[in-house]
Amino acid sequence: MKVMIVGGGGREHALLETLRKNPKIDAFYALPGNGGMSEHATCVPIKATDLDAIVSFATENGIDFAVIGPDDPLILGLADRLRAAGIRCFGPCAAAAAIEGSKSFAKDLMKRYNIPTAAYEVFDRAEDAYAYLQRISFLPVIKADGPALGKGVTVATSEAEAKEAVYAFMEQGVFGESGKRVVIEEHLYGYEASVLAFTDGKTIVPMVSALDHKRALDGDCGPNTGGMGALAPNPYYTKEIAKECMERIFLPTMHAMNAEGRTFRGCLYFGLMLTPNGPKVIEYNCRFGDPETQAVLPLLETDLFEIMLAVEEGRLSEVPVRFSGGAACCVVLASGGYPQRYQTGYPILLNGADQMECISVFHAGTIQKQGLFVTSGGRVLGVTAVDKSPRLAQERAYRAAERIEFEHAFYRRDIGEQALKIGELRHG
Ligand code: AMP
Ligand code: GLY
Repeated sequence: MKVMIVGGGGREHALLETLRKNPKIDAFYALPGNGGMSEHATCVPIKATDLDAIVSFATENGIDFAVIGPDDPLILGLADRLRAAGIRCFGPCAAAAAIEGSKSFAKDLMKRYNIPTAAYEVFDRAEDAYAYLQRISFLPVIKADGPALGKGVTVATSEAEAKEAVYAFMEQGVFGESGKRVVIEEHLYGYEASVLAFTDGKTIVPMVSALDHKRALDGDCGPNTGGMGALAPNPYYTKEIAKECMERIFLPTMHAMNAEGRTFRGCLYFGLMLTPNGPKVIEYNCRFGDPETQAVLPLLETDLFEIMLAVEEGRLSEVPVRFSGGAACCVVLASGGYPQRYQTGYPILLNGADQMECISVFHAGTIQKQGLFVTSGGRVLGVTAVDKSPRLAQERAYRAAERIEFEHAFYRRDIGEQALKIGELRHG
C-alpha cells in the first residue's frame, strides 16, 4: 500500500509515526513533509494548498490512500477531488469541512440543533457591528468568519480593542475575504478542553481528551500561537463531563451534519469551554489538532490505519478504538521570536533526546540538510513523553526537551502545570 500524507507539521509527523505501525503500508509520501518525516517518507515539494498538483501526483504515483492533515486543503475540497479521482482518503468533503471553514455556519448549526455554545450575532456590515458593540454591556470575542491562519480571533479586554478588531477585520481587510463577515460572541469562562473524535457519520468515537496551550509564554502570557504544548488526558475533563459532551455535543453535531446533507467523515475536533453551566463549544475544527495530536496519538493502541479505512468505508462501529490508560505530554520547542519575527536555518542538536525511553521527537519546522536537521519554521519540534500519569509524562518530556539545542530555542516551562496543580489539590 502507498500512503500519502498531506501537510508538513508536527501533527503530520505524528500521523506518519503512528501509521508506520501498520505492516500493510510499504511506502509513505509526504507533501511537503519536513526534516523528521523525510526519514521514513519520500518528501515531495508540493504545497498542501496546491490541489491540482496533489491530485496529479497521487494519480501518477498510484497512491492508494491519502491522509489530509491541515484545514486549508480540506476546506478547498481536496478530499472531494481525490475521491473523484478514485483515491480513498481520510478527511471530510468540503461541504462538511465548512464546520471549520465558516464560523457563522458552525454557529448557526449549533443554534438550529440546540448544541451549547456562546451567544452570538453575525455581521456583514461594519456599521452594524459597531452599533452592536455600543449596545452590549459585556466584553465580547470577535471572530473572522473564514480561515485566518489561527489569528482571526480577538478576545477583547476593552471596548476599544473590540472596535479595533472590527475595524481591522472588516474595514482594513487584514484577513481578506475571511474577515468581511464577523461573528461577535459572548466571552465564556472556564477551563478549556480539546476533544478529537473519529466519525464516519454513523458512529462517533472520541479520543483521549487534551489540553492545549495557546499563548507563547509561561502563565498563559504573551501572544496567541499555533499551540505551545499539550497534555493528554486533560485533567479537567472528567468522566461525567465526557458523558455530558457525548450526549449534548458530539452525537448532536454528527446528527446535525447528516441532517444538513453534510455528513462528516474524518477527525472532528471539538474545542470546548467547560463552564459552570456545562460544556460549550468554542470552535469546531475539521481535522486533527496541532499539537494535541502529538499527545493523543502516542496513547492510541488500535491500529490507526485500520481506523482510517473503517471511517472511509463507513464501518467505524466494527473497530474497537482503544487508548492506553497512561498519559502524554508534548512540549513545543520554538524559534526565538515566534509567533512574530524569527530567524531560521540553525542546526539542531538532539543530543540523544530522540533515543530516550518513551520519548518521541516530532518535527514541525525542520528540514534535513547534508544529514543534519536545520530549523525552518516557528514551531520547530514537539517533544512528547508517555508515562503512567500526566505528572510523570510532563517531567519526562522536560528531561528530553532540556537536551535539545538550537540557536534562540525557547519553550514554555509550564505545559500542563496549572491543570496538574489543580488536579493534585483536588485529589490530595
Ligand atoms: P480559535 O482561534 O478559534 O482557536 O480561538 C482561539 C482562542 O480564543 C481559544 O482557544 C479560546 O482560548 C479563545 N476563545 C475563543 N472564543 C472564546 C469565547 N467565546 N470565550 C472565551 N474565549 C474564547
Ligand atoms: N491546537 C488547536 C488547533 O489545532 O487548532
